[in-house]
Amino acid sequence: MNKNSLIRKFNKQAVIYERNTRQRKLGEWRQQLLQDIEGDVLEVAVGAGANFPFYDRDKVNVTAVDFSPEMLRHARQMASELGIHATFLERDIETLELPERSYDCIVSTLSLCGYEDPVQALNKMNRWAKPGGRIYLLEHGMSTNRLLGAAQHVVNPVARRISGCHYNRDMIHIVNASDLDIIKTKRYWNGIVHLIWAQAT
Ligand SMILES: C[S@@+](CC[C@H](N)C(=O)[O-])C[C@H]1O[C@@H](n2cnc3c(N)ncnc32)[C@H](O)[C@@H]1O
Repeated sequence: MNKNSLIRKFNKQAVIYERNTRQRKLGEWRQQLLQDIEGDVLEVAVGAGANFPFYDRDKVNVTAVDFSPEMLRHARQMASELGIHATFLERDIETLELPERSYDCIVSTLSLCGYEDPVQALNKMNRWAKPGGRIYLLEHGMSTNRLLGAAQHVVNPVARRISGCHYNRDMIHIVNASDLDIIKTKRYWNGIVHLIWAQAT
């Protein structure tokens, strides 16, 4: 799928993601993942800013990136309502260049399903993080349940066309294939939902 049609797809979904910022279960996972966030924070594929309510505004200085202008419009509004200090970049993560070794924390939630090359995206995060910097991931991927996993393979081509996301990625394999070191993982919903705490190397 080419980048312009993906951006159009996500522009159309921006209202849904804005509503999802209030989704309770997702909110619990976001809170669990993001408890320690502080310092210079890079949030990749920020969407409508669903993680902002879980940041302590006195402790973070956020750089937020997304290639969808509609998503960014909602994220700007969210940051302003919450008093979060944030700078926004309308850019494609897969071609984005940022100064290396710059961020204390990098946050990616529900974004690795969208990239052409998720390992390369993680390796960029590894370079952008300060030495020992933390990477916080909340991603959906292949279930640990074999039947559900088989169903994910079957629906993936259609789901990808409709939503722009892959539904059958092996997230643990992807993170292990990157330069990041995994510190801790937790999985929910038959292993589909992954919380992953990792460290830059
Ligand atoms: C499923 S939404 C998740 C949004 C948000 N992180 C959240 O947790 O609600 C995926 C987001 O990734 C963005 N995205 C996907 N691929 C991207 C890319 N290559 N560069 C920048 N943003 C991208 C989309 O525009 C969308 O906002």
